[in-house]
Amino acid sequence: MGVARIAVLASGGGSNLQALIDRIAALGAGAPAEIALVISDRRAAGALERATRAGIPTAYVPASAPEGALEAALVDAQIDLIALAGYLRYIPVPVVQRFHARMVNIHPSLLPAFGGAGMHGMHVHRAVLAAGATESGATVHFVDEVFDRGPIAAQGRVPVLAGDDADTLAARVLTLEHRLFPWAVLALARGALALTDDGRVQGARLDLTLDSPLSD
Ligand code: GRF
Repeated sequence: MGVARIAVLASGGGSNLQALIDRIAALGAGAPAEIALVISDRRAAGALERATRAGIPTAYVPASAPEGALEAALVDAQIDLIALAGYLRYIPVPVVQRFHARMVNIHPSLLPAFGGAGMHGMHVHRAVLAAGATESGATVHFVDEVFDRGPIAAQGRVPVLAGDDADTLAARVLTLEHRLFPWAVLALARGALALTDDGRVQGARLDLTLDSPLSD
């Protein structure tokens, strides 16, 4: 697809967006993708500020926007791939269908554990600690109609340490996310990562840690 045009959808601070911006900048002319649009449902989202600072076009699409507004913004910007990075809204089915195999999400746990409705942000890390898990991690998965359920594209692990609280665990997982997310999005753009017609993931990386080499 040449240089893929990516839309990043984010509701929050946008540190994963920033990791992708930085990785693409580091690759320079060799980057397989550009971020063509950042969309948020929250006007005050740090992600929008980060995009503006990087010279990336933004769109604010609140929950109250007319049906079809999100899809129209994506189509207008000629988006090839969608990356969800802390986007807290349900993705309308027509968008899921249009971007089948071309949309990924990052989730801060070892899916399928600690995923699904209500499992986002600190809720995830608190649940991991409450369950007494000895490890956690992050997962990038293809998006289908059910929250956090789509085929897994990349996964990495971090230990849960004695004395962790939700903040310290979240910070460790986020460090991993900042490696996992750019890798997965750019691998998808290069075609090194793909969802086949029969629903299998090609090129998945399921073994990452904070130290494992991750070249793209
Ligand atoms: C990350 O933990 C991501 O996994 C989750 O939301 C958080 C977003 O963080 N889906 P940021 O906005 O990228 O800093």
